[in-house]
Amino acid sequence: MSVPTFDDLSFYSNDQELTKSRYLKLVEIFQSNFPNASIDFFARSPGRVNLIGDHIDYNFFPVLPMAISNDVIVAANVNDEPEIVITNTDSKNFAKETIPLTNNNDGFEIDSQHHSWANYFKCALIVANNYLTEQNLKNQLKGMKLTFDGNVPTGGGLSSSAAFCVASTLAILHANGVKDISKADLTRITVVCEHYVGVNTGGMDQCASVYGEPDKALLIQFKPKLIGKPFKFPVENLTFVITNSLQVSNKHETAPIHYNLRVVEMAIAADVLVKKLNLGTLVPQDSNIGTSSLRGIMDAVFNTSKWDGNDIDVGIDQLKKMIDIVETELNNNQEGYTIDQCLTVLDLSLDEFKSKYLQAYPVKFDVLKLYQRAKHVYQESLRVLETLKLLSTTQTSSTSKDDEESFLVKFGELMNQSQSDLDKLNESSNNKLNEICSIALQNGSYGSRITGAGWGGSIVHLTTLHKSKQLIQGLIKNYYQLEFPNIKLDELLNDAIIDSKPSMGSCIVTTKFLQ
Ligand code: ATP
Ligand code: GLA
Repeated sequence: MSVPTFDDLSFYSNDQELTKSRYLKLVEIFQSNFPNASIDFFARSPGRVNLIGDHIDYNFFPVLPMAISNDVIVAANVNDEPEIVITNTDSKNFAKETIPLTNNNDGFEIDSQHHSWANYFKCALIVANNYLTEQNLKNQLKGMKLTFDGNVPTGGGLSSSAAFCVASTLAILHANGVKDISKADLTRITVVCEHYVGVNTGGMDQCASVYGEPDKALLIQFKPKLIGKPFKFPVENLTFVITNSLQVSNKHETAPIHYNLRVVEMAIAADVLVKKLNLGTLVPQDSNIGTSSLRGIMDAVFNTSKWDGNDIDVGIDQLKKMIDIVETELNNNQEGYTIDQCLTVLDLSLDEFKSKYLQAYPVKFDVLKLYQRAKHVYQESLRVLETLKLLSTTQTSSTSKDDEESFLVKFGELMNQSQSDLDKLNESSNNKLNEICSIALQNGSYGSRITGAGWGGSIVHLTTLHKSKQLIQGLIKNYYQLEFPNIKLDELLNDAIIDSKPSMGSCIVTTKFLQ
């Protein structure tokens, strides 16, 4: 399946007039940035909201996100100059940068200590360049003049960084002759983008951004291979409301104590289970840092009857067994493992431990909460499969009002349990985020949870079209107006209440609609 190209904007599910005027504004800013250049094409990619299944993608368990209407668009001019110039409609936050192109296309060095939006563009340049080499298409890279426009809030848990990196990669490839790339390839090459800026992410965000479809959520699987499968919810009246807590969660700057630390804790938890269960060489070294993953442990425990990713009941049974195993093997240390305790269990010297777990992505910690993190991963993965089971047993055609209500209550309960584990076991929530969830539950939400990395960002609420207004009003009155008393209502609605319609994934847009 290829990444599509459109000649007009009718693939957007939101207001056509507003969308067109946004593109026209982008064209105007492009022309004032580059008076002598013309736009050859646009590339775009959306943000995503994750409905359930957080901090499990880098352990290769399935997740259920959807692409949202907010996206990153780039207007692109292709030329033969030896540089790429990037500009932004938000020039205050993202000032013009010029990236020189070298003869051998190398040297896109990223100083990950110095945070700049150009670093994220260079990530795209690196992966696009690698793809051109892999496909034997490598020539001198084309020069480009680019103007970006993004309306995915940055640091809002809705993957503005993935939308930006995927749109950039797609634009660079299109400019260099790749007019037809498969969704699978675009996902495969962009999942590692953010690793180059020092954030050791999984593959959910890029996959959701690429595979999004209007009116559909996505089941993303990582094993046996990475793929996004669009599906519809069986309840007509169901809707998701996304509210940005307006607590910025900067994944990059806090990576050593938050995101990257979770990746390391889960990798060490997996290696401790290898030792305790004597799994030896049965476990693949497939985690993001080249160690065991918690999915690899499950596959090794059920070696002869490995879960194929399809039969939901088998997956559910195996995950329940894994939760028992975590209780037996890791529960005796709830305070967290010190490095010395890890060295003893893993039979490693301090130098070996440091080079295996702490070098690629530096992290800071007092203790490693292996029990809590492993338990979170298996319980959260179990909830994803329970959601899939619920979906498979709720038939669209015959859904009665009672069935619909029962679906909403059950799915909502799974989302609430997810929030509780994100808070207590994964420790990626906080009091304010928990408060937003409880206000929402008192105002018409069936289930509310932080979405994405956490430590700030957005909350996704499950509700009905009928109850969504009451939910938004409840949050405005009981959270936003108290936390941000000086904020104007229209600004609030604009910045904090995010359009949640599932949207089209990455695509190229030609300039035909401008003629
Ligand atoms: P999360 O991954 O938790 O959903 P996020 O992706 O929104 O959050 P970060 O991972 O902190 O947030 O990445 C945000 C960075 O992505 C910005 O600081 C900027 O460098 C880049 N970025 C995102 N959107 C744009 C944009 N419209 N223009 C330029 N750069 C952008
Ligand atoms: C971020 C990462 C994803 C995923 C989520 C948490 O968005 O980029 O890969 O790990 O956090 O589920």
